[in-house]
Amino acid sequence: HIGALGLEINVDHISVHGSDLGGRVLVERRVGFDSVAGGPDRALRVLGRTALEAVEAMERAEAVPAGLGVAVPGLVDVARGVVTFAPNLGWRDLPLAERLSASLGPWSVPVSVDNDANLAAVAEHTSGVAAGTPHLVYLTGDVGVGGGIFVDGKLLRGADGFSGEVGHLPVDPGGARCGCGRHGCWETKVGLAALVRTAMPDRAYQPADPQVSDPEGYATEIAGGLAAGDRRMMDAVARVGRWLGLGGSILANLFNPRVIVVGGYFATLAEWLLPHAQAELERLVVAGSANQCRFVASDLGFGAASRGAASMVVNRLIDHPTMI
Ligand code: BGC
Ligand code: NA
Ligand code: ZN
Repeated sequence: HIGALGLEINVDHISVHGSDLGGRVLVERRVGFDSVAGGPDRALRVLGRTALEAVEAMERAEAVPAGLGVAVPGLVDVARGVVTFAPNLGWRDLPLAERLSASLGPWSVPVSVDNDANLAAVAEHTSGVAAGTPHLVYLTGDVGVGGGIFVDGKLLRGADGFSGEVGHLPVDPGGARCGCGRHGCWETKVGLAALVRTAMPDRAYQPADPQVSDPEGYATEIAGGLAAGDRRMMDAVARVGRWLGLGGSILANLFNPRVIVVGGYFATLAEWLLPHAQAELERLVVAGSANQCRFVASDLGFGAASRGAASMVVNRLIDHPTMI
């Protein structure tokens, strides 16, 4: 039968999600990979190879993927399949769809590209903890922090498709330098590297660390420390939680979501992080107690965007059935 394949590029790993058109999961895996070190050429080779391996795995499950969707940690020109800017990868104006489909050899299928957080938000909206909620903000907690914003049941895109770049809200313009080149962006306060820096100051976040083939590695380690009552880690998480709540209050003032679903490491540490975030949001949001926005942890795991990428392929097939 026919299926769909989704790939998700992260700073330190690639997630793969293959499903049939009904959404049944056929292939799911995560491959540790430093997407930064070798530049886009090397990343494209590894992505192409990973896609072809996934196609073989799907064939073993008796499915043929009819398309490939790619989730990118950056700003995407969806219509052209071009990565305009991926701050933490250092990619600019990369024609990803065109170059990736050229590297797929005989398995030549349409390649579509979108922002990782937008795609994860689509997956949340379809099958996550807040499925069906028409007013939802999704936040990815990784090195970068991304947003996917649903208002009135629709994903916000904006004039160029760059809506939801919440990680670069300049919450502290005099603050630390961000991957985007500016200072004090929200992700310099709540991104994984910021958390690691304050929770484990002797072990600065290293994308090339072999440990990151398990992207939950740092978060799991910190969760262990928190459970054991490590003071420094508790303070670090409280601080990050308050910054999370501050950003959440900006989003609540702007979009009035019912829920802010948090994924990635935010979900791993939800138990410790979200009470601080929730209290800060409620303290800062202008609607006060009339605002009922709640932070909720995603249960889709670190591969939510790859799931959304596969569903993008399915949606395109439904819109353009002649592609099959
Ligand atoms: C990028 C976003 C992305 C997020 C999460 C940010 O640095 O600007 O486009 O969604 O990281 O990967
Ligand atoms: Na986004
Ligand atoms: Zn930035």
